[in-house]
Amino acid sequence: MSTLTSLPEWKKLSEIASSVKGAHMRDWFAQDASRANKMQLEACGIFLDYSKNRVNDEALKGLFDLARACKLETLRDAMFSGEQINSTEGRAVLHTALRNFSDRKVLVDGEDVMPEVHATLAKIEAFTASIHSGEHKGYTGKPIKQIVAIGIGGSFLGPKIMTEALKPHTVDAVKVHFVANVDGCHIHDVLSSIDFEETLVVMSSKSFSTQETLQNTITAKEWFLKSGGTQEDIAKHFVAVSSNVKAATEFGISADNIFPMWDWVGGRYSLWSAIGLPIALALGFENFKGLLEGAFEMDTHFTTAPLEENMPVLLGLLGIWYRNFFDAQSHVLLPYYHYLRGLPAYVQQLDMESNGKEVTQEGENVDYPTGPIIWGSEGTNGQHSFHQLIHQGSGVIPADFMLPLNVPNQDNTHHAMLASNCFGQTQALMQGKTFEECYADLDGKGLDDAERKRLAAHKTMPGNKPSNTFLFDSLTPKTLGALVAMYEHKVFVQGVIWNLNSFDQWGVELGKVLGNQVLAGIQGEAEKDNFDASTQQLIAKFRAANAPK
Ligand code: F6P
Repeated sequence: MSTLTSLPEWKKLSEIASSVKGAHMRDWFAQDASRANKMQLEACGIFLDYSKNRVNDEALKGLFDLARACKLETLRDAMFSGEQINSTEGRAVLHTALRNFSDRKVLVDGEDVMPEVHATLAKIEAFTASIHSGEHKGYTGKPIKQIVAIGIGGSFLGPKIMTEALKPHTVDAVKVHFVANVDGCHIHDVLSSIDFEETLVVMSSKSFSTQETLQNTITAKEWFLKSGGTQEDIAKHFVAVSSNVKAATEFGISADNIFPMWDWVGGRYSLWSAIGLPIALALGFENFKGLLEGAFEMDTHFTTAPLEENMPVLLGLLGIWYRNFFDAQSHVLLPYYHYLRGLPAYVQQLDMESNGKEVTQEGENVDYPTGPIIWGSEGTNGQHSFHQLIHQGSGVIPADFMLPLNVPNQDNTHHAMLASNCFGQTQALMQGKTFEECYADLDGKGLDDAERKRLAAHKTMPGNKPSNTFLFDSLTPKTLGALVAMYEHKVFVQGVIWNLNSFDQWGVELGKVLGNQVLAGIQGEAEKDNFDASTQQLIAKFRAANAPK
């Protein structure tokens, strides 16, 4: 029995869950007219209606008691103060330092890191200005108009999705293209669409050892040299963001063109660092700074608000409630805003690479479920795709709906329809439609009673499906920064309760190693018996299909 499941607070929640499961939210709303008004929170420009959750006062109290029993506040303060909470890599976890607008020092190994954080921000600002003003010119004297941002995982998702989400705030000076996958189609499509004389490549890799990013950059360099550039001109058209300055320099990126990052910033938490350079280039430095300011406001809320009024804490605990007491396998994000359509993919890496683990900090196997599957897509599209399963499927899929109340240059009819679909879905999920209501609807349809009952069963909507609804005035850089930081801290809260190290990612290492061995096999440089029969067979098929004609 693990420490967690032996806690009295855990046992209490199990009892509460048994009683709550017999209740229906429909009835709770009918019995308490103030439920919606009581179960709402506001922080950093974000309004959260959490009344459509399967919790009552007793459940909420039990969840906050569990958080205190797991020493959430102590561990939260340890993270912010730079303690090495990444316990398997011996590192601090300080993405919060990147957006620390207070005059608080942040010590790593006894040294205040804020001066270098500020210096890097200043480097980003100056470089962005030099590109936007046309001062920085390419090898034929043309100003830079196109950016090719190469990276993958946290070195891609943050820059791409934040830029996409803030499309109304993009500057005309440059157009940013993002390339991640090693599938050559993408890099070739992008390079075919740009004129290298006016193009800058931003290569982002914290480790500077990620195969996809290195290969895409090699291809870009070769393309540049073939299109008329020389080795000396590389410095005008290639910059890098990395914590591995040595490897970046050896790769041929000049030292002045390397934007530093640090090992106390995890890849999936790095958009606030120089990894965010493409964001600043796309939106302008002030808007990039707005992202940081919004995240700082959420950090302040997370570190000062009482647990019961703390948005990331509440969201983290609601996730525990469904994952561990309702056997929910996944959590769906439904942004009702086209520009925010990438958010589910962003939170996928943030959440699943942080808490997709089954070993506790002490190295014991867990005896409870941990990180859920994160998925989703923009509303209303999901309503015509997977909402059927959320409404009538077996099991519970907690949902996060989000909607800006105002959108730029928007026809009000469209926006009213979008909002009505968003709110209508949360209502349908909560109240459902009873068998009796469906049976009554089938009156007078010429059906015998057996067929009428059979059809009514198919049409019944159980309801009692939980959801959160987030509203914000409009999606500004500050609001987006707060929203992303809110999910970062939700993930942290859950990692604390599950007693995981949320900040390493050993699970992705084996695939990288074996991928390189298979590559050698495909290139005929490795013995066949290095691989299992299936992999041998797959390699053979690939080699046959690509044998020289
Ligand atoms: O998926 C593994 C991972 O290390 C992520 O954590 C990271 O964001 C991504 O690969 C890219 O890593 P890098 O920035 O070092 O190229």
